[in-house]
Amino acid sequence: MELAYKKQNCTELTEDNIGADAVLAGWASTIRDLGGIIFVEVRDRSGLFQVVADPQINPQVYETFQKLKTEYVIQVKGKISKRPDDTINEKLKTGRIEMYPDEIQILSAAKTLPFQLEDETVSEDVRLKYRYLDLRCEKTLNNIVLRHKIVTAIRNYLNSNDFLEVETPILCKTTPEGARDYLVPSRVYDGKFFALPQSPQIFKQLLMVGGIEKYYQIAKCFRDEDLRSDRQPEFTQVDLEMSFVEQDDVIKVTEGLVKEAFKAAGVEVNPPFKRITWHEAMDKYGSDKPDTRFGLELFDVTDIMAASTFEAFKAVINNGGTVRAIKIPGIASYSRKEMDDIRNLAIKFGAKGLAWVTYMEDGSVKSPVFKFLNEEQIEEIQKRADANKGDIVFFVADNPKVVFDVLGRFRLYFGERLNLIDKDKHDLLWVVDFPLFEYSAEEDRYVSVHHPFTMPAYEDIDKLESDKAHVKSIAYDIVYNGVELGGGSIRIHSSEIQERVFKAIGLTDEDIKEKFEFLVQAFQYGTPPHGGLAIGLDRLVALLTRSNSIRDVIAFPKNSQAKDLMSNAPGSASETQLRELHIKLRNVPKV
Ligand code: AMO
Ligand code: AMP
Repeated sequence: MELAYKKQNCTELTEDNIGADAVLAGWASTIRDLGGIIFVEVRDRSGLFQVVADPQINPQVYETFQKLKTEYVIQVKGKISKRPDDTINEKLKTGRIEMYPDEIQILSAAKTLPFQLEDETVSEDVRLKYRYLDLRCEKTLNNIVLRHKIVTAIRNYLNSNDFLEVETPILCKTTPEGARDYLVPSRVYDGKFFALPQSPQIFKQLLMVGGIEKYYQIAKCFRDEDLRSDRQPEFTQVDLEMSFVEQDDVIKVTEGLVKEAFKAAGVEVNPPFKRITWHEAMDKYGSDKPDTRFGLELFDVTDIMAASTFEAFKAVINNGGTVRAIKIPGIASYSRKEMDDIRNLAIKFGAKGLAWVTYMEDGSVKSPVFKFLNEEQIEEIQKRADANKGDIVFFVADNPKVVFDVLGRFRLYFGERLNLIDKDKHDLLWVVDFPLFEYSAEEDRYVSVHHPFTMPAYEDIDKLESDKAHVKSIAYDIVYNGVELGGGSIRIHSSEIQERVFKAIGLTDEDIKEKFEFLVQAFQYGTPPHGGLAIGLDRLVALLTRSNSIRDVIAFPKNSQAKDLMSNAPGSASETQLRELHIKLRNVPKV
């Protein structure tokens, strides 16, 4: 047989092709030898097709079939035939047809695989070490296919909306997304380093100064940060930026984009999506990426506790802290042990303690803190909680960050535990009006919540120096089922405001010069008002494929320890390479 490779896709063939010649090529996925007749399922990217060898029909072909082992790559040629009724496999797209090949050729042999492709018990590390084999699995392949469809839909959408796709450098200067940079030493300039971009942020703003007006890029970003299931050291953003726009324009374009991306995954969503302010998100859900598929909203009891005689809570309040509560329905019968576990959970989440009120089924009410409260205060708590028999109300007192974090995580924990989350819902929303700064106790200064190019709310610009804690920003995040899918902002386009913001986060003139001089300078040559956003493509695809981790939707991901198990990167550099790069390794003992 000539090796023309003019193959058809396995699943392209249907009953309409019965009697026609076909050439198929792929992997011998399963081989069954049933008493002298050998059945092989050929697998290519499109799916499976059964080919059969019978020594009575074609002894030569049968001889080659006998040599086959799983995952051999073969090519077969022959007529498509109808399967006998009793061998029809309705589960297979091509389950009504088969081929008794006239010719077969083994294109490549295969060693025994280190794991069975569809074996669900194989550890992720083994799959990642042999990712090229894992890619042969239907599930992994489907994720890659869907990712491609989503990216295509996004490109089509943005292209048809007059965006230009522009590439930006990978070797660049530090970018300000708040993670640690990956550095690349320069051979040419002794002691100097490139940084890999944490995002194309600065470049896309410079593209606006350059008059591009509407930019997008499917952009690789690099962040050296602690990894989680939804974080990778290198990941992909759908990055966009637009000139002469306000927040609503960016939101509208993004909603259209999200609609198309979801459509590519077979999910219909209907913009406009709801918007909630950052304050409301924190107050009600204890999170800036609220999952609003279920209730369990938090409520404030600071005023009640401030008037009580509970010194521990009062001390917290006097120190600028807050006391918030959450009502969990139907759990009053939890055992002592269960309550201990819940308390420990709160402490694990960062609380100093956990107080509660139990509304018993028999109508009585129990609480370790009631001794500090009067009748009226106890009644007010029940009223605010709208508590009924069977409920428990939990309280946490601390600084707002801790309180919201603990109760927000509590809310999610009970949402899952009590099965309150409708997993079929597609809950898309915008969080708007983020604060511009947050105080970092560690650094004893205000830092940007997003990045320092974010425009302050116009009405708050005069508070930049005097009241940093209360400056809102024109920044927005898009949240899907409690996951931050993307975020962006309107940018500062005035060098005067930009410098005030740099100063507000404690950057000295030297810092500004060293880090962003070129940007500040560029802004002095006529800058259009502009804004944009970036969506985490890996997260989007992971959510739409219901994957547990973004690793599942990246062709060659790093593992959870930021390592590429397949190529064993990162690896060592030779003495010659290091010398060329002017680098001497420090023999610092490992901590
Ligand atoms: P931000 O830092 O919010 O914004 O990033 C945008 C989106 O990128 C995704 N993302 C990640 N995905 C996987 N692994 C990571 N380590 C990771 N970090 C972030 C998230 C996030 O919402 N330049 C700004 C955007 C802008 O202002 O236009 C930026 O990078 O889904
Ligand atoms: P104490 O009087 O210190 O034993 O506290 C009474 C109850 O309040 C206990 O159940 C503590 O766990 C709880 N508690 C103490 N500090 C806090 C706090 N910061 N937030 C929530 N509950 C607390």
